[in-house]
Amino acid sequence: MTPEIVILTGAGISAESGLGTFRDAGGLWTKVPLEKVATPEAYAVDPEFVLGFYNARRQGCVEAQPNAAHHALARLQKKRPGDVLIVTQNVDDLHERAGSPPAELIHMHGELRRALCAGCGHQWGWEGDMALSDACPECRSNCVRPDVVWFGEMPYRMEEIYAAIAQCALFVSIGTSGNVYPAAGFVAEAAQAGAETLELNLEPSEGARLFHASRHGKASQIIPDWVEEILGA
Ligand code: OAD
Repeated sequence: MTPEIVILTGAGISAESGLGTFRDAGGLWTKVPLEKVATPEAYAVDPEFVLGFYNARRQGCVEAQPNAAHHALARLQKKRPGDVLIVTQNVDDLHERAGSPPAELIHMHGELRRALCAGCGHQWGWEGDMALSDACPECRSNCVRPDVVWFGEMPYRMEEIYAAIAQCALFVSIGTSGNVYPAAGFVAEAAQAGAETLELNLEPSEGARLFHASRHGKASQIIPDWVEEILGA
């Protein structure tokens, strides 16, 4: 895919769907230390606790609905087939449930609705709670984990993402604080390659000064407005 627009999304786009962000006041990482649930070491020490944490997040995801921002981005993708790639850091499935085409969506931090065998690396679809007694369908071992990228692990499909960023005309960052690399570095890569860059976020992010332009406000309001402008242009 050689998209004209690459859109990076983060937890802020799903905030109004009721899914918590990580670093805002009351965010997930202010309640649970990430070292206890989002590292391979945490899973090695207390897998039951880690699985329980992600079971609760998966359940939260089932109960959440896509909001106007997810729907607006899906509308943009449908009106401009093949032109718009969404790269999401989110492990929820709200982009796909809003209608984003799977071929135009990359979950760089994995997905709650997928499982990964910590033994053999097999990946497969998953619904409902995960338990230590669950076995991998490939190697039969009992070391099933959510297929989400933890700190210290390599995000997915990075080559594809960098290739898309290198040739896009516009890079847009939505609802992300710009704290976590490599995603936080995408804006610099895009600008370096000659793309226009735009931040759409509740407030200026860590890397706000790296963007050519920015708009601040709730995703459910500023994203549909921006999409209408793009489609009307
Ligand atoms: P953060 O919680 O770090 O940042 C969320 C951003 O969304 C903040 O800049 C908020 O201001 C903004 N925000 C909040 N509500 C919003 C709204 N209604 N509309 C628009 N913006 C809003 O979340 P991420 O940047 O996504 O990784 O975090 C990046 C990664 O850190 C996550 O993917 C996760 C986490 O640790 C892993 O677990 C590997």
